[in-house]
Amino acid sequence: MKNKLDLLQDKIKQAHAGGGAARIESQHKKGKLTARERIHFLLDEGSFEEIGMLVTHRSTDFGMENEKYPGDGVVTGYGNINGRLVYIFSQDFTVFGGSLSETHAEKICKIMDMAMKNGAPVIGLNDSGGARIQEGVVSLGGYADIFYKNVQASGVVPQLSAIMGPCAGGAVYSPAITDFILMVENTSYMFVTGPNVVKTVTHEEVTSEELGGASTHATKSGVTHFACPNELDAINHVKKLLSYMPQNCEELPALLPYTPGNEERNALNNIMPQNSNQPYDIREVINEVADEDSFLEVHKDYAENIVVGFARLGGRSIGIIANQPAYLAGVLDNHASVKAARFVRFCDCFNIPLLVFEDVPGFLPGTDQEWNGIISNGAKLLYAFSEATVPRITVITRKAYGGAYDVMNSKHIGADLNYAWPSAEIAVMGAKGAAEIIFKKEISAAEHPEEKWLEKEKLYSEIFANPYRAAERGFVDEVIEPSNTRNKLIKAFKMLENKAVKNPRKKHGNIPL
Ligand code: HXC
Repeated sequence: MKNKLDLLQDKIKQAHAGGGAARIESQHKKGKLTARERIHFLLDEGSFEEIGMLVTHRSTDFGMENEKYPGDGVVTGYGNINGRLVYIFSQDFTVFGGSLSETHAEKICKIMDMAMKNGAPVIGLNDSGGARIQEGVVSLGGYADIFYKNVQASGVVPQLSAIMGPCAGGAVYSPAITDFILMVENTSYMFVTGPNVVKTVTHEEVTSEELGGASTHATKSGVTHFACPNELDAINHVKKLLSYMPQNCEELPALLPYTPGNEERNALNNIMPQNSNQPYDIREVINEVADEDSFLEVHKDYAENIVVGFARLGGRSIGIIANQPAYLAGVLDNHASVKAARFVRFCDCFNIPLLVFEDVPGFLPGTDQEWNGIISNGAKLLYAFSEATVPRITVITRKAYGGAYDVMNSKHIGADLNYAWPSAEIAVMGAKGAAEIIFKKEISAAEHPEEKWLEKEKLYSEIFANPYRAAERGFVDEVIEPSNTRNKLIKAFKMLENKAVKNPRKKHGNIPL
């Protein structure tokens, strides 16, 4: 038996050694952790149970039969994060550059199957040179198997992807299908075709970092939801993100213990500028209303005219979508619409109630917007809110103009409660533009057209630049003092906690992609 135990220990030791000391050192020199170190920092101490440690590849071309590493470039298994079960795969760049072989793919698929059967999140730590070149099409098939599983798992269990090294070619599509992507500044990149191909095809000279680094994807493409300064920060973000989510689509997010206290937030009464065209930072409103330090912003540096993120309200996990008057006046455009739509759909998948703060002057006009599809992109947000069955509340802080009024979780598309602050302005368009159109003849015939215009603008403003017309109709359920917002919302979300709504039976809807 001793020999047998020794053999087992040898094999475990080999697996733990990954691609060997020299390659581990090279990994560290790049400022990167190894696959196992990442797991160590992510999971609760001692909770990791490895699955498939001794799996090796099956390829025989190019002398590969003589080069085998137990685990084959990916560490897979399960463990806990803050006591909650998660499934994990962590690619090992020290073994064939973390490249994906047939067996490497099988290991990932295996834990994804287990995650779906047992209803727990999947976390992928990606660090890979892509398809295992020595395996050819077999490796491509492995990728497709993973993509397929990602899609099957979508909306069933949360899927999180941390990119901690290269992620190129078709490999990018697995993270892209998952719910959230986190990238590490300077050590990770994602692109479909790398700088060399780009140079050949488009003659553009671009570095990997410029083309597909964390900042690029956090600001320009929106592919990543978080750009983290280092790997430990990315790992901590994964833990924090998970804390707002349930284990699967059948469960509710954990309700943290909460002792009711004084919910008045007097600062909110003074947040609104005198002039309604002046900006203010909607994050100040969010932070006043939400439980202290609970707001985790998602996609912070992308489409900044809309703010989305998770927070807690009286201990309850919520998703917040808020127009940002401090950026492009909070207008809705292509990127903001898609960003918000995806976030709404995530929350709805996983039973996270939605809170909307609305201050939107409308959709952004212009050829750029129209030619890039603001019609279908705006429709995505409209669709996402309309199909969401979770508790949904809107607070109109100031402007709610035009089609954007309808789109931003209005009562007409199924919101449960809509509040407005006394500063709300709810109308087809701003008073100046409205006056110009409906009093055009009167203004141009006047002796002093400018004065007439101002007079008519004031008139339109008096009639519509307030929340009361909407309140008379019941489109707004209550006009509330800003300082009372938190109090109202805590009670309202509690009241809605047993909401049960089902959309009509269908195979699946056809969101305008
Ligand atoms: C097999 C690979 C590999 C790969 C890297 N290695 N990529 N082995 N298949 N795809 C191996 C290297 O041979 C090397 O082995 C070790 O990993 C580390 O690689 P280095 O090149 O030394 O590291 P570095 O300089 O950091 O460069 C990393 C890299 C580069 C940028 C990822 O290795 C690279 O360009 N690799 C090829 C990327 C690629 O073209 N992949 C296919 C993409 S297409 P040793 O033994 O020296 O340690 C694709 C299609 C998917 O993925 C389609 C899905 C639909």
